[in-house]
Parts: sequence; C-alpha cells; structure tokens
Amino acid sequence: MPFHTYVQQHRDHFLQELSELLRFPSVSTDPAHAESVHRCAEWLAEHLSTLSPTSVELFPTPGHPVVYATWAGPPGTPTVLIYGHYDVQPPDPLDLWESRPFEPVIRNGRIYARGATDNKGQFFAHIKAIETVLHTHGQLPLTVKFLIEGEEEIGSLHLRPFIEQHRDLLACDAVLISDTAMYQDDLPTLCYGLRGLCYLEVTVRTAATDLHSGVFGGVVDNPIFVLSHILSRLRDGYGRVTIPGFYDHVLDPTPEERQRLAELPFDAEELRRHLGAPELFGEVGYSVLERRWLRPTLDINGIVGGFTGSGAKTVLPATASAKLSMRLVPNQRADDIAAKAEAAIRALAPPTAVVDVRALHGANPVLVPLDTPPMQAAARALEQTFGRPPVFVREGGSIPVVEWFTELLRVPTVLMGFGLETEGAHAPNEHFHVKNFLRAILASATFLHEYAHAAMQQ
Ligand code: BES
Ligand code: ZN
Repeated sequence: MPFHTYVQQHRDHFLQELSELLRFPSVSTDPAHAESVHRCAEWLAEHLSTLSPTSVELFPTPGHPVVYATWAGPPGTPTVLIYGHYDVQPPDPLDLWESRPFEPVIRNGRIYARGATDNKGQFFAHIKAIETVLHTHGQLPLTVKFLIEGEEEIGSLHLRPFIEQHRDLLACDAVLISDTAMYQDDLPTLCYGLRGLCYLEVTVRTAATDLHSGVFGGVVDNPIFVLSHILSRLRDGYGRVTIPGFYDHVLDPTPEERQRLAELPFDAEELRRHLGAPELFGEVGYSVLERRWLRPTLDINGIVGGFTGSGAKTVLPATASAKLSMRLVPNQRADDIAAKAEAAIRALAPPTAVVDVRALHGANPVLVPLDTPPMQAAARALEQTFGRPPVFVREGGSIPVVEWFTELLRVPTVLMGFGLETEGAHAPNEHFHVKNFLRAILASATFLHEYAHAAMQQ
C-alpha cells in the first residue's frame, strides 16, 4: 500500500492522537506545570512503545525528562536521529484565545492548541511516519532514533550534558528536525541557518525599599529613569546595537547569498499590513529578510517597575528590571555577547544605582551545510511530496541543540519544517494546518527511503 493511502485512511485517528498529545499543558518554564510536563513525556514513551521499537526509554534530567526510542533497521543501513520538543510556551494571554489552549479543536482545516505547530504537531508527524512505513512496508529502511526533549523553550538547559553522556546511544549519520517554518504555504522549505540567542535580565536598585516620593524625592535616584537611560543607549536611531564589540565577529552576507534572498518572493507592504505596524523598522542598509535572518538584533522583552495599579501612588520605587534578548548570527558567540552586553550596561550605570545583570539562557547561531546526502534526500522527499522543489532559507529563531549535534555528534542536521509563521507560535490561537501535518508525515516517510537508498548506493 502506498504511504498516502495509509495516511488518508488513518487521518482522523492520527488527529485524535495528536489532540491527546496537545491536551497536556507541558509548559516547561512554569514550575506549577512540572507534573503535566512529566505526564506528557510518559504519554509519549507509551505511545512510542505501541510502534514496537527496539527500545524506548524515559531519561530523567535535573529538569524535565528526555524521551528516547529507537528502531533498528537492516544491517549496514544508516541511522537518522529525529529531534523534537514536547514542551510548550506559556499560553498567556488567555483571554485572546478563541478556544482554550489545551483543549484542541479543528476549525478551517487547522488544529488549534498551544504547541500545535511548535512543536508537537511537527514531531508527531515523524512518529506517524514511522507508523506509516512500518504498516505499509513491514520494516524501516534504516535505523531511526527519536530524541524528544522537554526544555527547548527554556534554552534546552540540560540537553548538552545529556548528549555528552549518551554519545553512543545517540550515534547517527544525520539529524532530522522539523521545528522551523515553510517560507510560504505550499512552498516546501529547507532551512540552513538559525540565529542564536543571548537572554539577559537587568535589575536596577537605588534604595533598600520603596520610599515616599515627597519625603525622599530629590535625594535618591529613580531606578526606572536609570533603567530607561541604560536601555535607551543600547540601540541607535538606525537600528544598530551600540554595545561595544557587538558586531566584531558578524559574518557579512556574501553577494551570492544576498542575491538568493532577493530572489525569494517577498512583499514588504503585505508583511507590514499582516503585522499591523505603522511602518517597518530595522537596521538601515539591509533588506527585511536580511534583517530577520542574517543580522543580529537587540530587543527588550519586558520591563517592570514602580506603581502600575489604578489611580495614583506617590512612590519612589527602589527597583526596576528589564528582560533583554539579542538574536545572534554566525560567528557571534552567546557567552561573548553576554559579557560585552554586561560590560556596556555597567558602564552606563551611574554611581547612584546598583545594577545586576543575569544571563538567563542562550544558544549559538548555526549554519548547516547544503551539500550533504541527508539534505539532498530531504530535497527529493519534499519535491515528491509537494510536487515542486524546496526553497532554501535561513530563519531568525533559535534551536539550541543544533550546535551541539554538530559539535558533539559530528553529523549534518536537516531542518525540514512544516509550520507557517502565521500559525501563532508563542502567541494566542496557535494552530497547525492539517494538510501540512499530513504532508509532513508523507515527506518524513519518503525521506527515510530516499536517504536509506542514497546511502546504500555509496
Ligand atoms: N521552533 C522555535 C525555533 C524557531 C522559531 C525556528 C522560528 C525558526 C523560526 C523554537 O521552539 C523556539 O521558540 N526557540 C526559542 C529558543 C530559545 C528559548 C533558546 C526561540 O527562538 O526563542
Ligand atoms: Zn518555540
């Protein structure tokens, strides 16, 4: 039976199972959800066991557990490691959801729930691809390993040591990840670069406790002013980050790459309208795609301080704080940028304030090679599934583990995403297009055969 027949026949059942997975509020950042995160991992391990793997295991970590499963292929065939993350971002703000975030529903050919596209729907498609291949062909054409973690949305805090300690278990010839987006709907896409991330929290203190602003205003500095001053100096009016040394190691785009990006279909006005921005903003001298994918940025994610309740309170607050994140590009390093940012922030702080800078998490930027056998197999699989060859893009988001796979396992990674950037990842009303869920299953099954076949011919 062809793959697509099996997928068509089992469509509703696959969606029911995905709904079960989406029902777990596996919010990794929130200690109150730790139990749900754990139960989600257990559900996955049990689900994988029903597909008669060679082994399936739940590995505890100091944080959330790692789910692992493997199917041994015929001797002499290569091994593919498929990575995904079952943790999700917090669903807030809840009142902006049209249906509840952990009660999945299908509307307009889309399945709505937190985690639908990022990343449960996408990695679950690979699990259903294994099922499809097993039921249509009786066996897999190569060895498959699954590594599904529960901490990606908090910087994959315990995954690097896990990989270091389990190099043999994870040994493979290629890594396959679906946690990125298609460039446009119906346009199959392979991603060859991700930005990195450096996330900081800055706290400013000007007194031991809040004070009466009438009694002490005029003798103690105001932490919100100090913080605003510091923040306002981190970027200039041309969208450039002013932290000394920030651009030191940034790779300039080559003329070929600029040309390739310029050839992608793109409409800045449509994007502006879609985003609801009065005007687009960004670093002068670079196109929108360049600014999103291959230029570094600095953003303020949130800021708190002082009295924000209703009415008026005459207070001189003692502290104010902000969360900052910088998206990084090759060859910037998260550690180096954290140190430079901290030095810049401290240099801007007046003697009237005590400033604390804490690094929360980070990821290094990556570029993956385009000319590898698994990348080419992925391109063929996408072409067979979508009836047209893929486009090659970079993306602005980060996936911390990609660097560690490259460095520790020394194998190429394929980023074959099926999400769309309009699907509300990290935002209210997150969803995943059912047709892309089904196409992801077909593309994954086809990839396994294409890659196994290519490897056997070598
Ligand atoms: N799926 C995203 C990564 C992503 C987003 C890739 C957009 C390409 C385009 C992933 O789940 C994610 O959100 N990663 C975090 C990583 C961080 C917490 C270290 C991110 O990019 O903010
Ligand atoms: Zn995410």
